Amino acid sequence: MILNANSVMKISPIVPVVVVDNANEALDLAKVLYEGGISVMEITLRTKAGLEAIEKIANEFPSMIVGAGTVCDIQDYRNAVNSGSKFVFSPGITMSLIQESKNQTIPFIPGVSSASEIMLAKENDLTHCKLFPASLVGGVDILKAFGGPFPGINFCPTGGVNLNNMNDFLALDNVLCVGGSWVSSSKLVKEKKFKEITKIVQESLAVVLK
Ligand code: 3PG
Repeated sequence: MILNANSVMKISPIVPVVVVDNANEALDLAKVLYEGGISVMEITLRTKAGLEAIEKIANEFPSMIVGAGTVCDIQDYRNAVNSGSKFVFSPGITMSLIQESKNQTIPFIPGVSSASEIMLAKENDLTHCKLFPASLVGGVDILKAFGGPFPGINFCPTGGVNLNNMNDFLALDNVLCVGGSWVSSSKLVKEKKFKEITKIVQESLAVVLK
């Protein structure tokens, strides 16, 4: 099934952003997140294991909707598609990624942090964006400000989002979900502290808005 950006951003109010060192660990994490109630995850392409992890989850645990993060160029995008990613997130927006997205079926969710970048997204019919790095570029205030001129644009703020501030973002009409590493930090994953991750997932889902 091919999802669009809107469907991806509505799967869960929390999208775990994950950095993994090996694919088996990623598969275990996917199961833990899913059992805890989160069925979407972004695996960053920052580590060598990222693509293999996406492929493993896509093939062996398809209940988890897995996508690629840190997609910075068209080769990353193509690698993500070939690994079975259901979506791609980028920290930024470039013409080459926009062009590539038009040739691909999985949705491209670009990172934006300014009005001009949102306008570039909009000109190319990209109405769903990541705000990155959310807390540093203005957090809730900048999203409120963007709501005026850009009422049709939906955001997934990522970068500095955590249990304590996620609901400030999710309370906004133009925010569909938030992304972050607080749910399953690379440290906890590496140490296989899956019970602790389950606890954080449960704590987060117990209070999350939306
Ligand atoms: C990232 O770039 O790693 C993501 O934006 C997650 O940021 P965070 O670690 O602040 O949640």
